[in-house]
Amino acid sequence: MAKSSVISGFYKLSPKERLAIVKDFAGLTDDEVRLLENTGSVPMDLADHMVENVIGVFPEPLGVGVNFQVNGKDYLIPMATEEPSVIAAASYAAKMVRDGGGFHTSSTAPVMIGQIQVVKLHDAGYAQMKVLTAKLEILKKANDQDPVLNSFGGGAKDLGAKVIETSMGPMLIVELYVDCRDAMGANAVNTMAEAVAPLIEQLTGGQVYLRIISNLATKRLAKAWCTVPKESLGGDAVVDGIAYASAFATADPYRAATHNKGAMNGIAAVILATGNDHRAIEAGAHAYAALRGRYTALSKWTKNKNGDLEGVIELPMAVGLIGGAVKTHPIARIAMKILNVKSANEFAEVLAAVGLAQNLAALRALASEGIQRGHMSLHARNIAVTAGAKDEMVDLVAERMVKERKVRVDRAKEILEELTKKRNSL
Ligand code: MEV
Repeated sequence: MAKSSVISGFYKLSPKERLAIVKDFAGLTDDEVRLLENTGSVPMDLADHMVENVIGVFPEPLGVGVNFQVNGKDYLIPMATEEPSVIAAASYAAKMVRDGGGFHTSSTAPVMIGQIQVVKLHDAGYAQMKVLTAKLEILKKANDQDPVLNSFGGGAKDLGAKVIETSMGPMLIVELYVDCRDAMGANAVNTMAEAVAPLIEQLTGGQVYLRIISNLATKRLAKAWCTVPKESLGGDAVVDGIAYASAFATADPYRAATHNKGAMNGIAAVILATGNDHRAIEAGAHAYAALRGRYTALSKWTKNKNGDLEGVIELPMAVGLIGGAVKTHPIARIAMKILNVKSANEFAEVLAAVGLAQNLAALRALASEGIQRGHMSLHARNIAVTAGAKDEMVDLVAERMVKERKVRVDRAKEILEELTKKRNSL
């Protein structure tokens, strides 16, 4: 009989009870269940309070990017990622940037945008004027929701109203501009947007549907820039190669997507390690890359008059030091301690620097030897582990596969068998 995934009251069960059901449904072995039960530093209880329908946790490797210097301060960068070579590449790039004086950064105030959608208006232009005229009243209503944020100097600071044409007619979009201080801000902004909605309906005579933060955080931008000496990069040809790569990404969305993915490899790893919302950051970054009507590169690399490489990146960076998993996830708390940033702005700027470093590392490899050599030796270790290699065998098997240029599980198994036989005969 076909199994049903409709499990009434699943969410009310304990993780143990849920696991028993999933074990039965998926045919998990006792060992697999034990692995799921062993949640390590994120106790099952805590996980069960963080999200719904919990049956375990999903661990990722956590590494530390080294060599980073941002505005003269040294940082160790906690990075959680499943992708080999990301952390090594970021550290390598940070070292080259350090040779040129490190990263320099800036950021805007931590202002997020909350959108309130008003439809069914007789005259959208008139409604727009009514909202703008009542700006102070609306802002007061918004700020009444969050006295704590106000006490830290944050809160709804301004408001906008725009009429957009849509497939369902004109709509008025009211936007609250909220300074979120050290919070990512989604909760504060969404609460405010919901609270002002009745007032906006009253003012406009329209109907409000959506009341939600925008992840295209164009008022919360972080920027990083650096100069990399040509000697550190390996010479003039590499500088030229990176400048050509940058021009390619600026001109072609197909390349820009991969170019930006390279930068996000680093940013997302830090966001994940620190318990922030990586989907929000990814959405914001890619939407920002397309803001001028065509998707393009978030960073730019050029050769300066000395022949050295100059790079700059700018993107929205809605990250917080408080709220959500940042405080509840025990490892995220430790990651934040390692990172040692004192404000959301400092955090955002360090993230921009990490993105620039990661992008530089990818472009340097692509513009010179290609990424496969570096990637392959790290990938080979994963394959060796998949084939069953342990301890010193992991490196031995990986090295052989790279040398032979055959990085495959079947080959890893053969080499492992051969090396094990040899070792046992000693
Ligand atoms: C791989 O995860 C990232 C790269 O593709 C980035 C790039 O092409 O710039 C290497």
